[in-house]
Amino acid sequence: MSDKPPRYASWTHGKLPLPELLEMKRRGDKIVMVTAYDAPSGRLADEAGVDLILVGDSSGMVMHGRESTVSVSLDEMVFMTQWVSRGAKRPLVVADMPFGSYESSDEDAVRNAVRLVKEGGADVVKLEGAGAMVSRARAIVDAGIGVMGHVGLTPQSATMLGGFKAQGRSAERARRLLEEALALEAAGCFAVVLEAVPSAVAAAISRELTVPTIGIGAGAACDGQVLVWHDMLGYYEGRAPRFVKRYADLGVEITGALGRFVEEVRSGTFPEEQHTYAMPEDELAAFEAELAERR
Ligand code: KIV
Repeated sequence: MSDKPPRYASWTHGKLPLPELLEMKRRGDKIVMVTAYDAPSGRLADEAGVDLILVGDSSGMVMHGRESTVSVSLDEMVFMTQWVSRGAKRPLVVADMPFGSYESSDEDAVRNAVRLVKEGGADVVKLEGAGAMVSRARAIVDAGIGVMGHVGLTPQSATMLGGFKAQGRSAERARRLLEEALALEAAGCFAVVLEAVPSAVAAAISRELTVPTIGIGAGAACDGQVLVWHDMLGYYEGRAPRFVKRYADLGVEITGALGRFVEEVRSGTFPEEQHTYAMPEDELAAFEAELAERR
């Protein structure tokens, strides 16, 4: 008797097969993706039944307190991908290619994608942008690694975009977004993230593309949704974007728990008997006798 959920058509060692994403879109089954950055989070996301785990370079902001994602290094991404891959068994692990690891040439892009798969244990990779990045995506796909595209608000180029702002809000910009998404699909991307774009534009792109779209701030018509771990769980000090729904308030939980710890240590109510180790009575008596002799 298999313990695998019946909604998937086929399995490889318990891992969600990549082609299944296309089938899910055809069937109208929504695809669920969440970011994670370490082994316990990968395990919890797996247990909760998510389909894809994104080891996002959003880690730079939500985990490491940076102002943006641009300084996240490939080595950091490799380490985090290793941790997440150890925790997550069924979901496909998508490793973000960090800024500077794929822009300058197809060769760089392939070499660094291979590192994320070979050293990090990623199943597939994600890169931001279109234009010259379409060629990078094609080169990585040709090397045998699945690529997820990402258009709209692309945080690695937030400065060029004028900040963390919604994209595709004029007819001309919306058409360009559609063309970018179609070019990424033609390059072989297995899915495309649409970030912070009007829901009507995301709906049109989702209709036009054969491969699934994964939305973040792009409305309900996308074929799947992604949220950042810390944002959705309330474990982030800054102000979350308007498209975030908070499913928990872990920051408040954690501060409350730490506050109780502080109070109990100071008042002497922690640790209690159950948190300590005993020793055999005769050993204790011998030890105390030795102490008495020293006095
Ligand atoms: O790095 C990240 O978490 C992302 C998501 C916002 C899609 O790219």
